[in-house]
Amino acid sequence: MRAVRIHRFGGPEVLKIETVDEPIPAGHEVVIRVLAASVNPVDAKIREGKYPVVTEKELPHVLGRDVCGEIADLGDDVAGFLMGDQVFAFLSPKNGGYEEFVIAGSNEIAMKPKSLDPITAAAVPLAGITAWQGLFDHGDLRPGQRVLIHGGAGGVGHLAIQFAKARGAWVATTVSGTDKAFVEDLGADQAIDYKSERFEDQVEPVDLVFDLVGGDTQQRSFDLIKPGGALISTLTEPDAAGAAQRKIRVGRYTAQPSGAQLQEIADLIDEGKVKVVVDKTFDLGQVAEAQKALENTHVRGKLVLRVLG
Ligand SMILES: NC(=O)c1ccc[n+]([C@@H]2O[C@H](COP(=O)([O-])OP(=O)(O)OC[C@H]3O[C@@H](n4cnc5c(N)ncnc54)[C@H](OP(=O)(O)O)[C@@H]3O)[C@@H](O)[C@H]2O)c1
Repeated sequence: MRAVRIHRFGGPEVLKIETVDEPIPAGHEVVIRVLAASVNPVDAKIREGKYPVVTEKELPHVLGRDVCGEIADLGDDVAGFLMGDQVFAFLSPKNGGYEEFVIAGSNEIAMKPKSLDPITAAAVPLAGITAWQGLFDHGDLRPGQRVLIHGGAGGVGHLAIQFAKARGAWVATTVSGTDKAFVEDLGADQAIDYKSERFEDQVEPVDLVFDLVGGDTQQRSFDLIKPGGALISTLTEPDAAGAAQRKIRVGRYTAQPSGAQLQEIADLIDEGKVKVVVDKTFDLGQVAEAQKALENTHVRGKLVLRVLG
């Protein structure tokens, strides 16, 4: 089968499309015949050797963290899934999704949302679970609360806006000016152009800042948070001393695979409460082009690779 592997860290030129053996599942694992795999910023970080979980000794390494496909093989201990089931998955880092058949733990998969085609479903798992865990597990966002989401038009952000609205929260978000109408259409109550407006002058205090941008944007957010509120980031660890001074809770987290949470997300999608936006698709052979597009161009929603679909 074909797999996109790296043998050394570096730029897009280190991505190699190679022929490797098809995997064999252990007891609690399934093999997914991959119809589509999504492209995430972490894929380029891993490729560049900037993601601590994948070190030199893990090379060669297959990139890609989430997929949609059908179950092609099952371990003896898998319950609740059958051969041929269409599933989607956020994979653990040891199994890469940029390949034709991939191993997933049975606790990492959920049935594909019925209302989505496999390309669109592949866009969901990593971004969706990141949004879910950031807002609800770490951010403890509750109905009636106010949240500011930085980076609302990207892969994680466009889902986070809709999850927060579905939970009954009020949502502000920072985006490029050309994406304001896009995020308002997804349900954002207030959209701020981060290039021409200062969000701290526009938004009234919030219970939660969900930070998908980091740096100066994160630092400038502190004074917007109500005492007792929180700042949760997918990027850098926020300043703990500044947080203590303002009586707010801060944290940085790494999203973890969860089939159960993916099922909750699938249900919201099938109930029509969440739209998934795929900006562009690429063939597996265009993987370098896809990664360059995510790094260097303006993407609204997600980029997805067609694998066997
Ligand atoms: N810790 C984890 O487990 C975890 C999981 C997933 C993602 N992440 C990280 O979280 C970040 C977001 O992921 P993603 O998949 O959503 O990335 P993405 O699809 O590339 O989206 C990033 C978005 O941020 C916007 N943006 C850039 N600078 C901004 C600013 N100053 N203010 C407001 N928006 C800004 C971009 O808009 P423009 O294109 O208009 O500039 C883009 O829409 C990435 O850095 C990723 O590595 C971490």
